[in-house]
Amino acid sequence: MHRSKLPDEGITIFAQMSALARKLNAINLGQGFPDFTPDKTIIEHIRQAFLNSTHQYAPMKGNEKLRHVLAEKINYFQKTNLTENNITITAGATQAIFCAITAFVHPGDEVIILDPGYDSYRPSVLFNSGVPAPVLSTPPLFKPDFNKIKDAITDKTRIIIVNTPNNPGTHIWTKQDWETLAEILSDREDIIVLSDEVYEHIVFDGRKHVSVLSIDGLKQRAIAVYSFGKTFHATGWKIGYAVALEPVIIEFDKIHQYVVYAVNNVMQEGLASYLEWVKQTKGFDSLDQSHFFEKKRDFLYNALTNTRLKPIKPEGTYFMLADYSALSQKSDMEFVIDLAHQIGVVTIPLSPLFINPPENLRMIRFCFAKREETLQQAVEKLSLL
Ligand SMILES: Cc1ncc(COP(=O)(O)O)c(C=O)c1O
Repeated sequence: MHRSKLPDEGITIFAQMSALARKLNAINLGQGFPDFTPDKTIIEHIRQAFLNSTHQYAPMKGNEKLRHVLAEKINYFQKTNLTENNITITAGATQAIFCAITAFVHPGDEVIILDPGYDSYRPSVLFNSGVPAPVLSTPPLFKPDFNKIKDAITDKTRIIIVNTPNNPGTHIWTKQDWETLAEILSDREDIIVLSDEVYEHIVFDGRKHVSVLSIDGLKQRAIAVYSFGKTFHATGWKIGYAVALEPVIIEFDKIHQYVVYAVNNVMQEGLASYLEWVKQTKGFDSLDQSHFFEKKRDFLYNALTNTRLKPIKPEGTYFMLADYSALSQKSDMEFVIDLAHQIGVVTIPLSPLFINPPENLRMIRFCFAKREETLQQAVEKLSLL
């Protein structure tokens, strides 16, 4: 038999729950993808790129116009001084996360992962013979526990992974949070901060996304990763980017060039043209999705408060957690399967998103990046609870 490099990994919970939704023809509020299409203008820019641009390899770091306009965008929002040299276009944020971890983790190095978190962090560490060091965050929004983070740092710590706005916790990191981390890491400049910021444009109630790239004491050793899929309601495009200062981005690129070399050139040309158009016509502020998703959040939140589920109001992202302990004492996995069969709504159990799930966790995650009618139908079914 071949020896598995990831013996404990099965099929991700997202794929499992989406398959269940298809099988039962249920409403899928599980996996994080919209059921609506991207803006027509962006499709038109991409169509034109297909007709007019080159169909050969892009430069290794990505299309220069795209990297330039992205640097301008980040500088605009985060008051940074980035250039295109600080940006590498990747095949989605997931590839950027993998390359960042691969670039810095040597066998035996520890990576602090805030629990619960996005599911690709842990296997990417294991694949590199690193050691995941899970640190439990504080429910119900799973905000970071800085005392626990401090205690988890050892001589072997190489990376800490942060995700803001946070999936599945749905909190966002404030400037104060970042400054607390900078203080904790002030005598450990060898620790890289990998910041997953794919939901940067979805922050509610007037909050602002604060990037690690704007934080003194952290930005020199930071890698921030982003996803066009999340920003433009097109998760299937699988294009994103990594941002870091030198020399960090140079080490990142050494891995990136051998994982994918360069990303789909036509898509990059189309995205560059669209973002340039946005800059010149509506301004970068128009990329913000907060208002659009806040209406959906409020709709689902208000509806769930009228059931025996206890929703937790998200600060950002297009996810919402809910406590079901008033309804059932079954495990979250059993509960979501019952829910799918009984009322035809698929959600995600929270415990698979932990490395060390707490006992008796009675929480599920909804994705509300759905059309009004989908949410309406789901809410009608959920009101039976
Ligand atoms: C926190 C987080 N990071 C990264 C990703 C993956 O982004 P991409 O599809 O661009 O690889 C997701 C997708 O759900 C996510 O929720």
